[in-house]
Amino acid sequence: MFAKLFKIAVASAVAVGVMGTPLPQSNKLAARWMSFDNWGGFSSMNGFDNFYGAENFCGHIQSQTIIEQQQEVVCHSQSIEIIQQRLLVLQEMAKRIISEQICEVETQTIVFEQFYSSLGDFSGDLSRKSGRHVGYDSNIVSHFGSLQNSDGSLSSNDLGFSGSDCGSSTIVPSGSNWSDESSPISVGNAYNAAQSAITSFPSSS
Ligand SMILES: *[C@@H]1O[C@H](CO)[C@@H](O)[C@H](O)[C@H]1NC(C)=O
Repeated sequence: MFAKLFKIAVASAVAVGVMGTPLPQSNKLAARWMSFDNWGGFSSMNGFDNFYGAENFCGHIQSQTIIEQQQEVVCHSQSIEIIQQRLLVLQEMAKRIISEQICEVETQTIVFEQFYSSLGDFSGDLSRKSGRHVGYDSNIVSHFGSLQNSDGSLSSNDLGFSGSDCGSSTIVPSGSNWSDESSPISVGNAYNAAQSAITSFPSSS
């Protein structure tokens, strides 16, 4: 078992402004070392650990390097349905990749749990409890259009990055109405309201 410190690097590629407040350190320091390379003897699990590292199943241990843009990225609110449509596209695309590009059901399961857990970390970012900024890796996002070939089939070329690269080109949009005074409570209330609305299906447990 390793306990690694999760540090946040802040670098400014373009000095156009002063970065905001200093970052709190994360509490989520410990990770379980668990190798899934060739898990269960499945050849489709060969090299699984190379992506994030064996002690980093869900990509928790990740540093963020903030890159500043010539032109600041600012959030612009859209109507909720527009947002929900786009997130559903991402969700169904993830299902498509897992069900079309993996045939072994055990590998489908492990890869999905990795994805779900890694995405779930964003919850701690939104509540400002993780120590990470609320943003995204612009280099990873730039591959969005490369998931499909021109005929609509799924692409299978190497996109040229590893899981551990995620965070190294982070963009943090400004303009959210987060307030250190009131938002911890109001965001906590919002989180609890959402959690209480999440019903679990018997088949999903
Ligand atoms: C953020 O916006 C919402 C909706 O207008 C408002 O209820 C909330 O108080 C705002 N938060 C802050 C910190 O201004």
